[in-house]
Amino acid sequence: MLSKAEILNILEREENVINCLGLKKHKGQFKSEIKKKINEIAGFCEQILKIVKKLDRSKEIVFLECSCGKSYLSFALNYIFEKEFNIKAFFYGVDINEELVQRCEEISSVLGYSNMVFKQGRTIDFIPPDKEVDVVIALHACNTATDEAIAKGIKISAKHIMVVPCCYGQLSSQIKDSHPLISLTQFGLLRYKFADILTDALRSQFLLGNGYYVDLLEIVSPKLTPKNILISARKIKGKSKRNLEKYYELNGMFNTDFGLQEFFHARTPNDALACTG
Ligand SMILES: C[S@@+](CC[C@H](N)C(=O)[O-])C[C@H]1O[C@@H](n2cnc3c(N)ncnc32)[C@H](O)[C@@H]1O
Repeated sequence: MLSKAEILNILEREENVINCLGLKKHKGQFKSEIKKKINEIAGFCEQILKIVKKLDRSKEIVFLECSCGKSYLSFALNYIFEKEFNIKAFFYGVDINEELVQRCEEISSVLGYSNMVFKQGRTIDFIPPDKEVDVVIALHACNTATDEAIAKGIKISAKHIMVVPCCYGQLSSQIKDSHPLISLTQFGLLRYKFADILTDALRSQFLLGNGYYVDLLEIVSPKLTPKNILISARKIKGKSKRNLEKYYELNGMFNTDFGLQEFFHARTPNDALACTG
């Protein structure tokens, strides 16, 4: 498969797709914000290609991009699959913003991609119309929209759930007192950083509890962006009571009320264990 540098090369020289997506060069150069975005897309694509390598490529691979926005990631993957690998793929994209969804439809029509369907709405409400989703992806879905992507992936039993979270808003105000690491979180800056770590730990524990193997890695250098952590989960078994308990224990240890289990109406490990979707 391709390295991030090779993917970057392909994307940067493919002016038709890049221009259609609005990631144009200015006076022969990418502006720094655009360069950052293309790097993030290439870094995420690299990790997706690694998991695709292990999937049955004789069958169509179905992706669901949650909080897709302008769907840079799906368009880049679609291009790379078609041009470099001849992989058959299908893409659903969902976003709450109607204008962005319309824009994605226009771009897919300009590029002649008939294997892409975009829907307006919340991720959690999205029901794949006619294909079973293999891989759920989300790049910088704001705050709890990342949790919706994880919950949706679990509910539809996706083989892979891969999310790169964006802003984290849920926990920093909740961890001001009544927990064992108060001498750490009393410092505002550390509290914000720790809240981010705790958030991703809770997400990862919940995925483990739902039968996924979980890996956390960086898709680009933290010098480029701190929003660079990929939670990559692969379904390997059924639910695990012990790991679900760890999720609730972690929530309990910091007296936090993290919202992921709410998508399953599960206040206890036994509720979560009993939940079928
Ligand atoms: C920071 S943008 C990221 C867009 C795109 N993934 C990217 O990397 O450019 C976040 C997107 O999430 C969408 N969004 C926020 N909450 C959502 C939800 N609950 N369900 C679906 N989309 C949502 C917003 O409309 C926005 O397009």
